[in-house]
Amino acid sequence: MSFASRSAQAVRAASRRAATKAATRPVQAASYSLLARNAAAKAAPRVATAPSRGMKTLDFAGTKEVVYERSDWPLAKLQDYFKNDTLALIGYGSQGHGQGLNARDNGLNVVVGVRENGESWKQAIEDGWVPGETLFSIEEAINRGTIIMNLLSDAAQSQTWPKIAPLITKGKTLYFSHGFSVVYKNDTHVVPPADVDVILVAPKGSGRTVRTLFKEGRGINSSVAVWQDVTGKAKEKAVALGVAVGSGYMYDTTFEKEVYSDLYGERGVLMGAIQGLFCAQYKVLRANGHTPSEAFNETVEEATQSLYPLIGQYGMDYMYNACSTTARRGALDWAKVFEETNLPVFEKLYQSVRDGTETRRSLEFNGRSTYREDLAKELKEIDEQEIWRAGKVVRSLRPDNLS
Ligand SMILES: NC(=O)c1ccc[n+]([C@@H]2O[C@H](COP(=O)([O-])OP(=O)(O)OC[C@H]3O[C@@H](n4cnc5c(N)ncnc54)[C@H](OP(=O)(O)O)[C@@H]3O)[C@@H](O)[C@H]2O)c1
Repeated sequence: MSFASRSAQAVRAASRRAATKAATRPVQAASYSLLARNAAAKAAPRVATAPSRGMKTLDFAGTKEVVYERSDWPLAKLQDYFKNDTLALIGYGSQGHGQGLNARDNGLNVVVGVRENGESWKQAIEDGWVPGETLFSIEEAINRGTIIMNLLSDAAQSQTWPKIAPLITKGKTLYFSHGFSVVYKNDTHVVPPADVDVILVAPKGSGRTVRTLFKEGRGINSSVAVWQDVTGKAKEKAVALGVAVGSGYMYDTTFEKEVYSDLYGERGVLMGAIQGLFCAQYKVLRANGHTPSEAFNETVEEATQSLYPLIGQYGMDYMYNACSTTARRGALDWAKVFEETNLPVFEKLYQSVRDGTETRRSLEFNGRSTYREDLAKELKEIDEQEIWRAGKVVRSLRPDNLS
């Protein structure tokens, strides 16, 4: 058995052990990650310690903003704060998986609610949630929960709302990880009851990353917002939940700002624009007689393996400085051309997000009964593009892939 599969097995086993513990709700003073703590104990001497920083106002390039760090919520305080609560996690996609396992490992009382015997039900059992103990139908989980964390797909939130809305009774808290459903209420018809707190914690990354960073003793960046504050405690609860689900730090937003920036970003540079730019650059190289390996290396491989990690770690100016004078000169000139050319496209995109066009498209597509098959078909088309077929061969040649 490989090291990777052995450690994956160990992680799954630890998750199951943690599930049993969570189900019996022990008094525990565990770290932010039981798994990280266990691993650290085995792999001493490196011990991760949470830096002692908390809520503060920081100057972000001239604009002052409040940030919340998890050190204001030591684990004992977090567990005490939620000691009378049951987090009912509705939906078990990537966020359900990451946020649910993290909150469970943090010693909170968590139950999962999903469609019985669907894909998520199976996945939840794999992760150690136990039918009848910590895994229920959506309705039953909501009945048991005090904090209802709606992590269904955005389309499903809208489809299931008529059924679940009456179950969200006075005193419960309604939690989202996206402003989508309530902001676009004219399209989604999701209107929260007037007598519950409605809050948001939106991790800035995939649920898989939410989980991986937590297990490493690190944390995802998230935004927090309040839509409706009935108790006067909505913000505090949102921040505490943000810590519970694995955030390292959080910044303030509103439901509107969160959904606009999120839909815009993923259609833009995070996903849509990057695929479009890669393809356009690759096509021109191929049309001018460059081989697939050369075109892929000059478009994707050098970007992802060499240059983008430098931007992530040290910033754009550092990356420019790390490149040749020739590269720098040309890139500085052409950056302006790309910015000017793309500005109207980004303006059009933001407008399309803001006026709800993107929402309606998403609700229509993801609300189809065939949404999984339809998506798989489109992703297969991408996988079969020459650029990504060439990429498979290039990746296989990375020295770390050779035995
Ligand atoms: N993924 C991200 O990177 C990310 C980041 C930040 C925030 N968010 C937000 O977090 C929320 C959850 O997103 P996600 O990516 O984790 O989940 P997702 O993949 O979009 O949704 C999956 C869940 O929805 C359920 N579902 C789909 N259609 C359903 C229906 N008609 N009835 C009942 N259940 C249905 C699935 O259950 P079955 O398996 O039974 O179909 C599954 O549990 C969303 O609001 C999303 O915008 C996501």
